Amino acid sequence: MEVTKQIKKFFNKYNSKEKILVTGGLGYIGSHTVVELIEAGYEIFIVDNLVNSNIEVLNGIKEITGVKPVFENIDCTDYVAMDRFFSKHEGIKAIIHFAALKAVGESVENPLAYYRNNVISLVNVLELMPIHKVEGIVFSSSCTVYGQPDHSPVSEDTPLQKAVSPYGNTKQICEDIITDTVKANPNICSVMLRYFNPIGAHPSALIGELPNGVPSNLLPFISQTAAGIRKKLSVFGNDYNTPDGSCIRDYINVMDLADAHVAALRRILDHNVEGVEIYNVGTGKGLSVLEILSTFEKVNEVKVPCEIVGRRSGDIEQIWADPSKANKVLNWEAKVSLEDTLKSIWKWQLHLSENEENKEKVKGGVKMSSLLHGS
Ligand code: UD1
Repeated sequence: MEVTKQIKKFFNKYNSKEKILVTGGLGYIGSHTVVELIEAGYEIFIVDNLVNSNIEVLNGIKEITGVKPVFENIDCTDYVAMDRFFSKHEGIKAIIHFAALKAVGESVENPLAYYRNNVISLVNVLELMPIHKVEGIVFSSSCTVYGQPDHSPVSEDTPLQKAVSPYGNTKQICEDIITDTVKANPNICSVMLRYFNPIGAHPSALIGELPNGVPSNLLPFISQTAAGIRKKLSVFGNDYNTPDGSCIRDYINVMDLADAHVAALRRILDHNVEGVEIYNVGTGKGLSVLEILSTFEKVNEVKVPCEIVGRRSGDIEQIWADPSKANKVLNWEAKVSLEDTLKSIWKWQLHLSENEENKEKVKGGVKMSSLLHGS
């Protein structure tokens, strides 16, 4: 009897999956990361308040992985609800904290929403970590913390400039909050990932980026224009000090970015992180808006009407990553080609348009795209 028990215990130990909480796990980067985490063998718990995501994403995750993760509709700014969540789901070992607002322009118009959401959510999870014996947190930071750097590529040691927007400021503040908290509390650790410009969709096209209303980011705008939902793309400025005059960014495939989270998490769970570690997550290559546009048209054989307009306020001229620290320490590198990434976006756009058409057939209602025209 005793032996059977022992074998069972051994079996359970090696079969039991590590429990990970993903806040904002139904959002764009969150959902792709959840897929990669499930495929890497973790047991995933998602909390998301659905302000910028959709419950249907859960079905996409299930279709891809065969697993429907535990999901609770909770706002991370609600301390009591988060505390209850941790008590209900004992044994969470680490958190990947995506839950945050991320639209630069909106943050300028409504800064307090950004400070409330982004800062309070983080403070809550950090306070709850030691209480519920959570060992580490992977934090979604951004290259926005570098402001307009004097030169690119930027490494993690590049001095941070004053943030250009309240959104960017929340990322700088959150990085400081984590650093101070981890310093004061040796039982927790953190990996902060500074994302460059995440683009693309899961190759299955079952999940992807779902912008609310008029997209402010480049790639959703390009793909919606190619699909006829938008009349034309406005290219914000061709008078920058860059080879073709348009801004330069480091566009990273969302599945590659998801894999960087898996690598960061593994490092935390293997107790290899002491205190705080910071990594740039980018390709190391800067591409201009016009280069992205022409490559999108070429690989997808579509036309994207466009016009050059004035600069967008708050835009920085150029930035791209030096990802060598992540390459070396996390043993991670961006793998998906730009061509495949841009194809995945078009495939996702076609999937969305098809679904919309099906819904229209059922409802017989006004086509969503006609409501969006002219914006
Ligand atoms: C910004 C933030 C980034 C944040 C992201 C989330 C900075 C430096 N970066 O990225 O941290 O995660 O928002 O929303 O603050 N463009 C056009 N026409 C369009 C849309 C965009 O020409 O209709 C151009 C922009 O001027 C820019 C490039 O495309 O040069 C990329 O823009 P976007 O996709 O909005 O991302 P960032 O502003 O770089």
